[in-house]
Amino acid sequence: MKSLFLLLLFCHVSSPVKHSLKTLYTVTSGFPNLPELMISVLVDNVQAGYCDSNKTISVNHDVWKKLFKDNPGLLDLCTEQCVEIQPKRFKSRLDRIMQHFNQTEGVHILQFIEGVQLDEQSREHTLFVQCGYDGEGFMSLDLTMQTWISVKPEADAIKQDWEADKAGIGTYIHFLTQTYPAWLGMCLYHGGSFLLKTDLPSVSLLQKSPSSPVSCHATGFYPDRATMFWRKDGQELHEDVDHGEILPNPDRTFQMRVDLNISSIKPEDWRRYDCVFQFSGVKKNITTKLDKAVIRTNCVSPVGAIVGVVAGLMLLSVCITALVIWSKKKKNIGSQ
Ligand SMILES: *[C@@H]1O[C@H](CO)[C@@H](O)[C@H](O)[C@H]1NC(C)=O
Ligand SMILES: *[C@@H]1O[C@H](CO)[C@@H](O)[C@H](O)[C@H]1NC(C)=O
Ligand SMILES: *[C@@H]1O[C@H](CO)[C@@H](O)[C@H](O)[C@H]1NC(C)=O
Ligand SMILES: *[C@@H]1O[C@H](CO)[C@@H](O)[C@H](O)[C@H]1NC(C)=O
Repeated sequence: MKSLFLLLLFCHVSSPVKHSLKTLYTVTSGFPNLPELMISVLVDNVQAGYCDSNKTISVNHDVWKKLFKDNPGLLDLCTEQCVEIQPKRFKSRLDRIMQHFNQTEGVHILQFIEGVQLDEQSREHTLFVQCGYDGEGFMSLDLTMQTWISVKPEADAIKQDWEADKAGIGTYIHFLTQTYPAWLGMCLYHGGSFLLKTDLPSVSLLQKSPSSPVSCHATGFYPDRATMFWRKDGQELHEDVDHGEILPNPDRTFQMRVDLNISSIKPEDWRRYDCVFQFSGVKKNITTKLDKAVIRTNCVSPVGAIVGVVAGLMLLSVCITALVIWSKKKKNIGSQ
């Protein structure tokens, strides 16, 4: 299980942060320990709230707790949506799909992600709706044409089903257009300083064994608009360097690493190398000299960090994981 999560983490696709608000619906069948429907709300790709058909509601951060406090009625609205309205809507869709595939038993999972993304520079809002079935892309909504696009031929029949209700699609798109940009605006208003705050990472050099590459590892930074690279005599190196993906930490921050293959570096040349962490567009950087004295040689730290992330993510709920699967599978949504 852990290795699966690990794999998914490494698949996470990252790109510069634009502000986004997303709702992820996960409806399951055949999982005895999971509620039928789980809903996660993500602001800038970090879970802000969660609720499910089993009446669990949680809000993740003081900023969002205050939002609920300042908007009495919001909690009731969410509860009603989570416990009554949305489970019916999604359960019938899952049943229909299972029926179409002649799946009477086994575990099945249907996911929808809908939301909006705001480009800070152009101030343009982009809405999106994607649907996945059993972990694979299934359908997406073309908001301009007001049609569903089946990602795989097996989805064609379902597409026709969903499109039979033209008026329903129109209403849904109208709802998305009206609410999501406004909600995102509200989130940015309430969470502004929290969302825009920059967190610098702690950077360390790690090495498994004396012959393995030296890994420059930065963790705890936010936002994910950052780069890290190795330099020799102040010049960025492209050879003997392996860049890892930017991965999410459970606490909204990110981590990344860049490995330097040191096998051909003479000991006296070590001091000519350093690792630089930098936020995009920001002059400030964190420079770490390649130095035997500061390298942490162990098999614990990098693995420990990742296991920590894995455990954290597991706690966050299946939803987040599902999102990560999607980020990978459908680069055009999860990522931005
Ligand atoms: C639903 O919640 C109850 C307690 O409120 C708990 O005992 C039960 O295990 C939960 N079921 C699921 C599927 O999460
Ligand atoms: C489902 O079963 C029916 C009848 O047994 C069959 O005609 C149909 O092709 C099956 N559909 C799929 C997707 O396997
Ligand atoms: C490091 O480079 C050497 C040759 O310069 C190569 O043989 C070795 O496989 C590389 N190690 C890694 C982990 O890529
Ligand atoms: C890092 O910052 C220092 C001064 O703060 C500057 O001299 C150096 O050029 C910066 N490095 C990069 C790669 O921008």
